[in-house]
Amino acid sequence: MFEEGAVLKKRYGEENVFDLSLGNPIIEPPAEFRRELKRLVEHPLQGMHRYMANAGYAETRTAVAEQIALETGIKFTMNDIVMTCGAAGALNAVLKTILNAEDEVIIFAPYFVEYINYVDNHGGVARVLPTDEQFIPRFDALEANIKARTKAVIINSPNNPTGVIYSEDVLHRLGEVLRKKEAQYGTEIFLVNDEPYRKLIYDGLKYPSPLRHHPRSIIVTSHSKDLALPGERIGYLAVHPDCSQKEELMDGLIFSNRILGFVNAPALMQHVVRHLQSVSVSITEYQQKRDFLYRQLTDMGYALVKPQGSFYMFPKSPLEDDVAFVRELQKLKVLTVPGQGFGTPGYFRIAYCVEDRVIEGSLDSFRKAAQKFGLTR
Ligand SMILES: Cc1ncc(COP(=O)(O)O)c(C=O)c1O
Repeated sequence: MFEEGAVLKKRYGEENVFDLSLGNPIIEPPAEFRRELKRLVEHPLQGMHRYMANAGYAETRTAVAEQIALETGIKFTMNDIVMTCGAAGALNAVLKTILNAEDEVIIFAPYFVEYINYVDNHGGVARVLPTDEQFIPRFDALEANIKARTKAVIINSPNNPTGVIYSEDVLHRLGEVLRKKEAQYGTEIFLVNDEPYRKLIYDGLKYPSPLRHHPRSIIVTSHSKDLALPGERIGYLAVHPDCSQKEELMDGLIFSNRILGFVNAPALMQHVVRHLQSVSVSITEYQQKRDFLYRQLTDMGYALVKPQGSFYMFPKSPLEDDVAFVRELQKLKVLTVPGQGFGTPGYFRIAYCVEDRVIEGSLDSFRKAAQKFGLTR
């Protein structure tokens, strides 16, 4: 998609191609970020570019712990936190630590495609399970597929590509199934929530955290989206304070962060985000984009679940073959991603973290495609 998009842009001009294929936010980091960065440059701290403890700076880990405690009511301390190179680095440190060869990790389709690669990186086997019409895990499938070798279940709420947020009720049921299966097999199963979109939630919703529903839960996240810093590779992992064998687990996570070659999360960014734990980019701006595009697409007849968070939508493809439909949109100079890429054919993903001009420019093509493939209204 990326390559073909580049060819189209070269041929027709950047302004005539409407690229909704990438989750690379156009919103600039908030003013508080620049203020912190400037302050550090003007008043550098002694030794601020040196090696540090592999888990990260104590002050930053404390700030992160305080923020999670504030949001969840659970007593986190810096000893539960490891600063990482983004959510991707955090996820790899977790899988490296908990997996033995052939251990299974459950993921739900549609999924962030890198999960498959990351599980494979550490000798695990990814078991992909279906979700229902609302993109919520099917609990019967989950129960049937947790085996003695199941080490972890990865969830992603708010979700890429659907924008769905798991409710307290869904998380409660998830936790119940995990504990039932742990008792059945005499095992421990980690619930890993990949939550880089945690702060990008709409309609005043309060974020339902999986931490309240399973003691063996681990958060992996980053400031790639909430502070719009994906290139800076700054994130963290947080282990539930009541997790069994926590000290041993933390040792493993810190060691993995080191030997995977990350060594530690970037020093400068750790200094900066320490003071930005309660800050995020403008949620209103993303919500306006969501509202506008959702209304337009549903008026044209597209079927889609209204996203509650993140900056993606996952409409049903009017053609059974989602790749063919994405190609049709491409001919109309709109770039999206086929659902197949997320393990869910029959849908396509739109990333609306783009300028309004791009969203508005794409509408004519969406309308033409809707008419061509018989969507009514
Ligand atoms: C669901 C999900 N998880 C993880 C990542 C990786 O995030 P990071 O850039 O912080 O490593 C992304 C990036 O798009 C994502 O969408």
